[in-house]
Amino acid sequence: MKRGYPGSPSSSGPPQSRLKHNPEGDGQFLEDETTKIFARKVADHYSARTNQTLEEREASPIIHLKKLNNWIKSVLIQLYARRGDAVLDLACGKGGDLIKWDKAKIGYYVGIDIAEGSIEDCRTRYNGDADHHQRRKKFTFPARLLCGDCFEVRLDKELAEEAPFDICSCQFAMHYSWSTEARARRALANISALLRPGGILIGTMPDANVIVRKLREAEGLTFGNSVYWIRFDEEYADKDAVDCPEWIVPFHVFKALAEEYDFELVFAKNSHQFVEEYLKKPEFVELMRRLGALGDGNQDQSTLSPDEWEVAYLYLAFVLRKRGQPDRTQQRTGRRDKGKMHIEKEDIMYIKS
Ligand SMILES: C[S@@+](CC[C@H](N)C(=O)[O-])C[C@H]1O[C@@H](n2cnc3c(N)ncnc32)[C@H](O)[C@@H]1O
Repeated sequence: MKRGYPGSPSSSGPPQSRLKHNPEGDGQFLEDETTKIFARKVADHYSARTNQTLEEREASPIIHLKKLNNWIKSVLIQLYARRGDAVLDLACGKGGDLIKWDKAKIGYYVGIDIAEGSIEDCRTRYNGDADHHQRRKKFTFPARLLCGDCFEVRLDKELAEEAPFDICSCQFAMHYSWSTEARARRALANISALLRPGGILIGTMPDANVIVRKLREAEGLTFGNSVYWIRFDEEYADKDAVDCPEWIVPFHVFKALAEEYDFELVFAKNSHQFVEEYLKKPEFVELMRRLGALGDGNQDQSTLSPDEWEVAYLYLAFVLRKRGQPDRTQQRTGRRDKGKMHIEKEDIMYIKS
């Protein structure tokens, strides 16, 4: 649609995403005509990505960007997760955040992802069977894994017995819900129904403002550097006439839509701003130093290349809170006995769209 957004997001709805990009720099997936085929392509793309050995991982040209992204996710988790929390990890991937949740001493974890291969890797990582990455053997919280399209299925029904959750995390994935208005609404309805009053949604996703600005500055419809590229379809060649946020996730529309589902914005910050702000806090400087993303974690940014730093600028971190006050007098009502301390293949629940 080549027009600006009217005030109400419900009348314009989330746009059709036309962005071809890859947050991990290998630019391989393509959007297709129908939402289902698109979702399938995303699932196949991620399923096909095998677990890397530690050596392969360290040799990646974007290793420091990955470490920086891990730092951002760790900071979000440390800021908002509380001991004993029930966590819903939407688009959990291979379980790359399991250790972060463990450090936050959560009490229960449900992870869901559309990619069968990723969920299987997540299972082995949780069990401590994965030889690489695995720095610790056992996690202290019971967990449950589901495989399905979390922006399509009625997770509110599937997980009703386990609700309410204290915190929901959707890292580098919320934009996959933005291909149609129905999916964006289903995503928010699922999360809202499953979170307790006062519960928190944390996430990271592409920063539409930055991407649109870069498109307008670009000579053609493609831009990038040595570690990423983004290509836009021909139909968007008339850049000045296009309100580009129609087809990537414009944060103000996301926020307005989220408000319809009882969320209020806590903050949204571009990754550069996020780094600048949270690197003022000693505990997060120390974490940065340990992860090794930005030199000594203080002023020294020597380890991250300028091209990786530019990619970081394409993303933002956000926090939303579900309206209402938690009832502190009430006992936990959500069932946790569906979680296991060791997950077998048969324990993974496959949900059909
Ligand atoms: C960039 S990865 C991020 C994985 C993980 N959240 C992390 O930060 O390490 C994006 C993930 O979103 C998942 N995904 C994409 N669309 C999805 C959907 N509709 N339902 C569930 N997962 C989805 C992909 O399979 C992939 O694992």
